[in-house]
Amino acid sequence: MASPLTKKVLVPIVAGTEPVEATVPIVVLRRAGADVTVASAGGGGLVVEAMYGVRIVADALVAADDCAAAHFDLIVLPGGVPGAANLGGCAALEAVVRRHAATGGLYAAICAAPSLALASWGVLNGLEATAHPLFVDKFPPEVAAVDASVVVDGNAVTSRGPATSTEFALALVEQLYGKDKAEQIAKEMLVRYEAGYTINEVNSVQWKCDGTPKVLVPVANGTEEMELITIIDVLRRADADVVVASAENTVDIAARHGMRIVADTTLDEAAADQTSFDLIILPGGTPAAKTLSSNGKLVTLLKKQAEASKPYGAIGASTAHVLEGKKAAAHPSMVAGLMKDGAGKRESRVVVDGNVITGRSAGTAMEFAVAVVEKLLGRDVAQRVAEGLLFA
Ligand SMILES: *[C@@H]1O[C@H](CO)[C@@H](O)[C@H](O)[C@H]1NC(C)=O
Repeated sequence: MASPLTKKVLVPIVAGTEPVEATVPIVVLRRAGADVTVASAGGGGLVVEAMYGVRIVADALVAADDCAAAHFDLIVLPGGVPGAANLGGCAALEAVVRRHAATGGLYAAICAAPSLALASWGVLNGLEATAHPLFVDKFPPEVAAVDASVVVDGNAVTSRGPATSTEFALALVEQLYGKDKAEQIAKEMLVRYEAGYTINEVNSVQWKCDGTPKVLVPVANGTEEMELITIIDVLRRADADVVVASAENTVDIAARHGMRIVADTTLDEAAADQTSFDLIILPGGTPAAKTLSSNGKLVTLLKKQAEASKPYGAIGASTAHVLEGKKAAAHPSMVAGLMKDGAGKRESRVVVDGNVITGRSAGTAMEFAVAVVEKLLGRDVAQRVAEGLLFA
């Protein structure tokens, strides 16, 4: 049960929301103990189609009384095109944020949302703020643009884009819970603030991929949201044909930190299709990793993948449960190497052993996903995607 001291956070989402920018604050604030309401600011129902085909089921509607009349300690606006403009045009949300700001509440926005929502409502007037480099020009003269990953001024916190989402979310944790809590979560998640990535590679081989790669991303209840959404977002930015397939009976997944995400299909259907995948990537999350490791269809697909010398990989809990498990084609050298080193060893955040790629945790998800793109589609495509994420 939420105690009266529980901090309440509203994260509005809408068609065209950038899914990483929504997911990271939701997950990080929930890890800190906040009661986060994900609310649709769109006209339809609870299912929101974010960018890159990511479908998120909201907990509530912004226009409904449980949002419009409720008190929040923090309101966080994710960006995205046209998501940020859609949030900016939502009259119910504007009324909620204006009232919240007028009564001294903390509010935050990232990417295009500082310009297209907060600044357009006048709640950044007289303050320093940042935004995505393509949207800083859209600030009115009353807002002082600052070139920084995260800017805190008065009750407004602003940030630049997908690659600064984690730093942004941790700054919000610091505002609500203090610096120690933010540092503790950063440590647990193995967060690194610098952009860019290093691939620690052994047994180097060229991954096979002709044309548009078909990528299978299996999910289950308990899948870690940051790992899942970052993988989908980054691979679709690289124009991969990503199939998100549920190992549950339904395509509606209850993820690790309570986000509800709609998969494209079930694993049964994806496996029945007889198509071969150019790549299989498993997001983590302990409960889901267990479900995935005992899914016969997936184990068969992974075995075939290994036998055909085609790439596959995993991040977080799935590295241990799926790749190390006897049923899947394990690469013990890689798994042992990944597990035994110290947390501070930067080069082992992403490990490639032949056709197998592994990443350590939610805090390494963007490094992992961009490294996957580099191995599959080459450095130029990875560079383009990294630039789009502001991760270069
Ligand atoms: C998985 O989550 C979905 C969505 O919340 C739920 O309907 C389903 O019952 C869950 N499945 C299991 C096996 O718990």
